[in-house]
Amino acid sequence: MKKVTVSAPGKLMVLGEHAVVYNRPCIVTAVDSRIKVTVEQRKDRIVEILAQQINNKPFRRPIYELNNGRDEEIPKEVKFVCKAVESFIKDNTIDGGLTITTESDFSHRYGFGSSSAVTVATLKGLSELYSIGYTERQIFDLAYEVTLDIQGVGSGFDIAAAVYGGTLYFVTGGKRIEKITDKKLPLVVGYTGVKADTPTLVRQVAELKKEKPDLVENIFKNIEELVKMGREYIKEEKWKYLGDLFKVNQKTLYELGVSTTKLDVMCKEAESNGAYGAKLSGAGGGDCMVALVSKEKQKRVEKAIESVGGKIIPVTTSAEGVRIEK
Ligand code: MEV
Repeated sequence: MKKVTVSAPGKLMVLGEHAVVYNRPCIVTAVDSRIKVTVEQRKDRIVEILAQQINNKPFRRPIYELNNGRDEEIPKEVKFVCKAVESFIKDNTIDGGLTITTESDFSHRYGFGSSSAVTVATLKGLSELYSIGYTERQIFDLAYEVTLDIQGVGSGFDIAAAVYGGTLYFVTGGKRIEKITDKKLPLVVGYTGVKADTPTLVRQVAELKKEKPDLVENIFKNIEELVKMGREYIKEEKWKYLGDLFKVNQKTLYELGVSTTKLDVMCKEAESNGAYGAKLSGAGGGDCMVALVSKEKQKRVEKAIESVGGKIIPVTTSAEGVRIEK
């Protein structure tokens, strides 16, 4: 039976988290840690999913009962695959069933966007398998709907990174998706060892916005300005200036209450050891920080981050978007 393997990259937020949930822009870069999804036709009407996350114990359901009210039982990654299949078969009639296998280069704990990458790769794989020819924009729109359906919140920046790759200027819901560059950014990534829960942090900021609307609006306005400046500095490769924006953005995220002592200490240590600037990346509350660093200072900054308990995650930025593997 016909079979296709597709891969999609993870992401790192460069500037603009949280504000991007409220109609502001952000900058995101795709990272070359990828999720691979193989979709294969089968004769019966079963969907079988094999995912690392469920220890390779197959998950099986009849194709038209993927979401039959038992959602809570489904492991997270499998949930996104199921919803992506559901969304696909709503628009396209298919004979038989599917075997879907997922493999990941990275731990879902880092906050690199494994759910978005797996959703994008599944939709692209199905489009290929049935020769539908979805455009990048169609895959973005479908995947965004799937993730909103499951998570209820999110700007979609992580889906854009998985679809288009490179480093992007992105506005909420994909109102604007512009490639800034395909060149690598000189980033060092440090993992805190703490898994963050994005929906909880997004709700926490929403609460603060309700309590102190003027303060939060003002913070978002500042973030919007620094994202726009950041886009130009990336184009011009002015890393020192971009590093200054990292510092300002970290301060605003601290004011929003989403940074943690560990993230603050890791950022400070990176800066005291020569980084142009450092900030948390993503929702905050844990996950990763990023430091902008020259080649000469890279080793020293990495050691400094490790010295305060961070784990260095080697990544290459501006990675290629979703692609067919074979
Ligand atoms: C989370 O990685 C980034 C947030 O801005 C949420 C989102 O944009 O979906 C906090």
